[in-house]
Amino acid sequence: MTNSRQITHSRILVTGGAGFIGSNLCEKLLHQDNEVICLDNFSTGKRENLTHLLPNPHFKLLEGDIRNPQDCQLAVQGVDYVLHQAALGSVPRSIKNPMLTDEVNVNGFVNILFASAQAKVKRFVYASSSSVYGDYPHLPKVEHLIGKPLSPYAISKYTNELYAQVFSQLYDIQCIGLRYFNVYGKRQNPEGEYSAVIPRFVGKLIRHESPVIYGDGEQSRDFTYIEDVLQANQLAAITTNENASNQVYNIAFCGQTTLKDLYNLLVELLIPFDEKIALVIPTFTENRKGDVRHSYASIDKAKQLLDYQPQFYIKEGLQNTISWYWDTLSQ
Ligand SMILES: NC(=O)c1ccc[n+]([C@@H]2O[C@H](COP(=O)([O-])OP(=O)(O)OC[C@H]3O[C@@H](n4cnc5c(N)ncnc54)[C@H](O)[C@@H]3O)[C@@H](O)[C@H]2O)c1
Repeated sequence: MTNSRQITHSRILVTGGAGFIGSNLCEKLLHQDNEVICLDNFSTGKRENLTHLLPNPHFKLLEGDIRNPQDCQLAVQGVDYVLHQAALGSVPRSIKNPMLTDEVNVNGFVNILFASAQAKVKRFVYASSSSVYGDYPHLPKVEHLIGKPLSPYAISKYTNELYAQVFSQLYDIQCIGLRYFNVYGKRQNPEGEYSAVIPRFVGKLIRHESPVIYGDGEQSRDFTYIEDVLQANQLAAITTNENASNQVYNIAFCGQTTLKDLYNLLVELLIPFDEKIALVIPTFTENRKGDVRHSYASIDKAKQLLDYQPQFYIKEGLQNTISWYWDTLSQ
């Protein structure tokens, strides 16, 4: 390592590397002189997210499934760090198909965690989620105060945390869980039933269709720019702070943006590309099942133990992303 905040000269497995967060991780780590292995089954990830990385001799793509223990064993061979991102995201998807969410997010997690323990990787960093807070009303969310889960997805992510805790004791593997809060940035899938709110709004606005806002639009989220998530993953992998391992951390910006404010911000940023977007009017409809009203993180623990320092206010992160959306969606 040449820099205590970045992973360099290491061999890293990124599961779910063809997805939004995973492909950004692969790209960043390759730029920093690492060998990167991506394990993905392309269920929600896209080949085009990796096209630009395939010619790099330090990049290896393994098409496989975390539900298959052999694929996991193959992927972890000789690896220093595992950054586990593969999962089926989306609360509504998990309500529609809880069995599949459980198979991938829980069974798949145990497979990759067990394979990582057997391969004696230096650290296993995995994506948890703010959904773990469930119905706990207190704001901001602090790591040790969680409520009852509100969806199968939340159960799956909380189960990951329990497994990581137990595996760290039983198999002597160092694990760190990152509870991401509404991540956004380039390559976040704008299409499909289960897309996240920012790409969904942008996609609709670019097509001059009315974006749907569930509820009154006053619900808020702690939107987190992808670069801050990449920073958190690297810090979690290489921290030498003995108290930092075998813990979970909120990874967020520590800001509260209502969906109405988000909507207005996106319109403002898109008008320079197409002034007619100012004429689009959103549609308000009833709340979605399983959604929490407010989600806002304390990031003190990550700041103190990992030296996490988020850099991107929502406006700046969206400004960096908006031309990617325009180029991707306006053709
Ligand atoms: N994006 C967010 O705001 C957010 C918030 C909280 C947590 N997370 C978590 O972060 C991780 C990454 O999310 P994302 O937004 O990049 O999602 P994504 O859907 O873009 O990426 C997930 C990747 O995992 C792959 N995958 C799914 N099932 C697999 C399987 N069985 N075997 C191998 N690969 C498989 C998919 O093909 C995809 O490439 C997930 O664990 C998600 O639950 C994301």
